[in-house]
Amino acid sequence: MQDAKEEIKSRLAVEDVVGQYVELKRAGRNLKGRSPWGVDKTPSFMVSPEKGIWHDFSANKGGDIFTFVMEVEGIGFREAMEKLAAQAGVDLAKYRGGDPQVSRKKARAREALALATKYYQICLTRNKNVCEYVFYQRNLNRKTVEEFKIGYSPASGKALTEVLKKHGYTEEELDTAGLLNRFKSDMFRDRMMVPFIDTTGNVIGFTARILKKGEPKYLNTPETLLFNKSRFIFGLHQAKESIRRNGFVVIVEGNMDVISSHQAGVKEAVATSGTAMTEQHLKALSNLTSDIRLAYDGDDAGIKATERAIMLAGDLGIDLTVISDYHGAKDPDELIQKDPALWQAAVQKSVPAVDWLLKKYEESVDLSSAPGKRKYSDIALKLLDYVKDEIERASYEEKVAKKLDVDVAVLREKGERLNKKLEQSSKKYLKKPKTAAKSDTVKKLENSLLALKIFGGVTKVQIPLEIPEDDTRLAELELIFNSEHQLPADSTSYEREARELLTRYNSLVTKQKIKELSEKLDELDENDEEYEKVLREIRNLQKL
Ligand code: UTP
Ligand code: MN
Repeated sequence: MQDAKEEIKSRLAVEDVVGQYVELKRAGRNLKGRSPWGVDKTPSFMVSPEKGIWHDFSANKGGDIFTFVMEVEGIGFREAMEKLAAQAGVDLAKYRGGDPQVSRKKARAREALALATKYYQICLTRNKNVCEYVFYQRNLNRKTVEEFKIGYSPASGKALTEVLKKHGYTEEELDTAGLLNRFKSDMFRDRMMVPFIDTTGNVIGFTARILKKGEPKYLNTPETLLFNKSRFIFGLHQAKESIRRNGFVVIVEGNMDVISSHQAGVKEAVATSGTAMTEQHLKALSNLTSDIRLAYDGDDAGIKATERAIMLAGDLGIDLTVISDYHGAKDPDELIQKDPALWQAAVQKSVPAVDWLLKKYEESVDLSSAPGKRKYSDIALKLLDYVKDEIERASYEEKVAKKLDVDVAVLREKGERLNKKLEQSSKKYLKKPKTAAKSDTVKKLENSLLALKIFGGVTKVQIPLEIPEDDTRLAELELIFNSEHQLPADSTSYEREARELLTRYNSLVTKQKIKELSEKLDELDENDEEYEKVLREIRNLQKL
């Protein structure tokens, strides 16, 4: 794999890969542009063609073409590799020492699925009844049907299998692609076919809707070598351009909501297909934008889904908002059928997810009764546990206390009691250890310090950071060094700068450590022998 990586790198220029996403201008030996993560006002995104690397000073990340594509597309290493290999014209199969058989199988499955998609598309045009369903009942237009490659699977139960066998595919290969049922005939019959398209544009499976009433409403491709439902995001291939350009994403519940939304001009819509949101979904999306808007149905399932999303997001440090202005429609698709403009407007009016949930909780209980107040405070406190920022949480606590007509201290007391109970009932595993991620400032300082140590030749000031061995990382640090030091300076000025940075760095790290230890202390019993030790550590750190 390392060879393949090198081969791809040698064939693709970093400025060409990055240039597909960021407008770059020459600035001396480097190229400059605006951050694709949209956090900077002045160009702070740098590319070094010589070194084959990039660094984003505003978002504080950097690396080579592979990390760039991973970050900007929100995809994993393998997928980035496949994408870049395709661009470079490198045949990855040749390099896969590990399992050429698996990649061969995957390639065959992809080809079979591409052919199946074409076949289903043709079948749609040939069936008047299904056209009626797609174009009139579902109100999709030609462009949308084309873009989402919508088709129709014939009712016979053998049609596709026969066509694909004629093209030389074996039963086993069709099975690998997820196209066969357990009787070895067509998995999908007499359904509207909606392909699952991955971010490279390949079809990796289908979701198939029944045309009339019946069960199941949707039949989905099972997990296969290509299709992993906890990672797959429906519509992302078609949405990512707009998400990047307009800086937000809308997550809807149904695949048809995604399609309708795109047709209505809201092209930032995606869905997690046939499964609840996972951490992988959320991480991938948060790499594209920090503005994540949920548009789940307003029913109990929608509330549950929103709660779940908040729990995941809290751990990842992501803020979520909720779109809920449906004018009585049950889902976005229904609203769009009423009037696309209503959906366009709704998308612009999202409220913080916690506020939305608190309101829902409020509506579900009788706040004028004592038991109602108890219930409301139970669920509200559980929710607020996921609000990590102290100020934000305090503000919500005030709000909730006001609703309950009690002093906020009473509410907090109850919160503490519930938390203790939770811990005691050995449900500790529910609470992850709160080792806060290194803050951006700390990371930045680390970079600058390392750069000074390696490229500024700083030796008098002891910088307690390991010099990395990774070439890309070293090149990145050199880029950082060069951009932070436009003019050559003498070694004493580098030493002075290092000393200043180190002071700031140490104080931040100490603060962080104190915070972590204090959190640990909170969870320990005063009689625990650890308690003394942790306390002493904190005191010592405070003296620094
Ligand atoms: P919905 O039943 O809300 O779908 O399920 P929808 O988009 O409104 O469907 P239409 O408008 O009636 O055609 C939401 C999602 O749940 C999954 C699918 O991913 C669907 O998009 N689902 C639903 C299934 O996987 N299987 C089912 O039988 C039903
Ligand atoms: Mn619907």
